[in-house]
Amino acid sequence: MPKITFVELNGERKECDVACGLSLMEGAIQNGIDGILAICGGSCACSTCHSYIDDAWVEKVGPANDIEDSTLELALERKPSSRLTCQVEVTEALEGLVVHIAQNDS
Ligand code: FES
Repeated sequence: MPKITFVELNGERKECDVACGLSLMEGAIQNGIDGILAICGGSCACSTCHSYIDDAWVEKVGPANDIEDSTLELALERKPSSRLTCQVEVTEALEGLVVHIAQNDS
């Protein structure tokens, strides 16, 4: 089970075991990570699961597809490393991934 480190808005780092096949959003919720609201339940419609992929991982995780890209327009403070965590599937290749939670409420 890959270890994923979530960095909450207050800077606290939480290393979590997340099962392959889950989304990063599901892994964050299961592990009680603060700041992921996921109001739409993972259907790529709300942007409240927005996070920043750590710079060292951006290439490996890859870019958003067109649908995610348009939903990301709703996110606060979008950056080049922005992804919607409900759209990133956890795989063994993401062992050690670091994800910085974005501001998801206004
Ligand atoms: S949970 Fe709504 S876009 Fe990810």
